[in-house]
Amino acid sequence: NDDDCEQRIVQAKAALGRRAVILAHHYQRPDVYKHADLTGDSLQLSRLASGTDADYLVFCGVHFMAEVADILSKPEQITILPDLSAGCSMADMASLLKVQRAWHELSEVLDPDEVVTPVTYINSAADLKAFCGEHGGIVCTSSNAMKILQWSFSRREKVLFFPDQHLGRWSGHKLDIPLEQMAVWDFDEPMGGLSPEQIRNAKILLWKGHCSVHQMFQPQHILRFRNQHPEGKVISHPECSFEVCKNSDYVGSTDYIIRTIREAEPGTRWLVGTELNLVNRIAEEFKAQGKIVQFMASTICMCSTMARIDPQHLAWALENLVAGKVVNQIKVPAADAVLAKRALERMLEVSR
Ligand code: 13P
Ligand code: SF4
Repeated sequence: NDDDCEQRIVQAKAALGRRAVILAHHYQRPDVYKHADLTGDSLQLSRLASGTDADYLVFCGVHFMAEVADILSKPEQITILPDLSAGCSMADMASLLKVQRAWHELSEVLDPDEVVTPVTYINSAADLKAFCGEHGGIVCTSSNAMKILQWSFSRREKVLFFPDQHLGRWSGHKLDIPLEQMAVWDFDEPMGGLSPEQIRNAKILLWKGHCSVHQMFQPQHILRFRNQHPEGKVISHPECSFEVCKNSDYVGSTDYIIRTIREAEPGTRWLVGTELNLVNRIAEEFKAQGKIVQFMASTICMCSTMARIDPQHLAWALENLVAGKVVNQIKVPAADAVLAKRALERMLEVSR
């Protein structure tokens, strides 16, 4: 039962001491999150993973996050994802094959290696980060996407941004790029469904990917809230649609959302457009300061894949480590790791 599991995790952690560190993303379920040693948004977790001295990095997030931890940690450190099926549906919307095909198709209109910077959102597989490393590109997260686009445009005139069209569009908009100069690349269509002229005119080619959780938030949720609470503030994650971001007062990463509400005046009311576990946690935390934090949608929007890392899997992974056995190790093949690290280190350098 749950109490047993909790005990097992506490005991295994105590037995492992400083040899193991548990990292958890802000969306992690509360019964797992409470065991974390280190928490953060994707950028913070990348930095934390590269800075820990533990032998084992037990990652309570999704697959791409554990890959990043493996790439950025020392070669002798071991990264573990307690349930290997904890993926990210958005990351799955771009594959190396499809990105290579897009690159090849672009070469019929222009010289992509001269003109286009490939930018991958960190929510992507390691081989896509390697693709970016190889082609002069870079990784971004929701907290540094604008800086990364500025860096990209200082080098080449166009960007191929994958897999999240919404983060790409919002960040481009914040840099004053007109919507007409952002074209959606439909990876199921030849030439992304675009004419050569549309490709030549575009500053940003937006991969047609999205997050299944954040697409649930709608402008009418905001409208209803504003009608009921005209004094309230709306804050959203940039994975939400353009219309949702545009109608929000603040837009930013999970860490930005937490910080903004933490620093707000007592007595303020907030509508939050991001994953439910995070919203529930901050609603509870900020209640003591008299702040009211509401979830944006009426349906339950959870990152169900991240929630697969449950206490049972965490206990099982830790107990195996105590017994000297490594289970569910995430090991990025060396050839990909070297190139992906190049793109990740560029990101860490640019967003310092
Ligand atoms: P953050 O980097 O803002 O934590 O976002 C990660 C993520 O996957 C959001 O869906
Ligand atoms: Fe991926 Fe969406 Fe989950 Fe973030 S919330 S990890 S983008 S599925």
